[in-house]
Amino acid sequence: MKIVIGNDHAAVELKNEIMAYVQSLGHEVVNFGVDTNASCNYPEIGAKVGHAVVEEDYDCGILICGTGVGISIAANKIHGVRAAVCSDVATARLVKQHNNANIIAFGARIVGSELAKDIVKAYLEAEFEGGRHQTRIDMIHELER
Ligand code: RB5
Repeated sequence: MKIVIGNDHAAVELKNEIMAYVQSLGHEVVNFGVDTNASCNYPEIGAKVGHAVVEEDYDCGILICGTGVGISIAANKIHGVRAAVCSDVATARLVKQHNNANIIAFGARIVGSELAKDIVKAYLEAEFEGGRHQTRIDMIHELER
């Protein structure tokens, strides 16, 4: 898969660990995040990754900030983005199976790196189930109009 990743200053270290992990799983990962601890504005990064997922040829995105919340709220303002904050493996699997989330988000101040890797793996390995779930996603996207 071709994956885009983004992070703010709260998540530089975890972003680097997740990038290496995703590459070790055989995926390509492109970094749109920051690489220093200098304070930055997560909405800019959430929007950049959101646009990339919707408009470019990425299969999905990964967003990390302190909680995963601010950056995912920003990404979700981009039409077509379905960014889901996950702090556990079951939710990470279900957001792909039921919501076809095209971005997974989590918080560097909330989850440890081993759990974050498990979350990413569960999300990447899960498959969208379609059917009634597609109907509901279509209804969500109607709300954007
Ligand atoms: C930055 O301090 C922090 O507010 C940000 O990383 C994130 O947690 C916001 O939701």
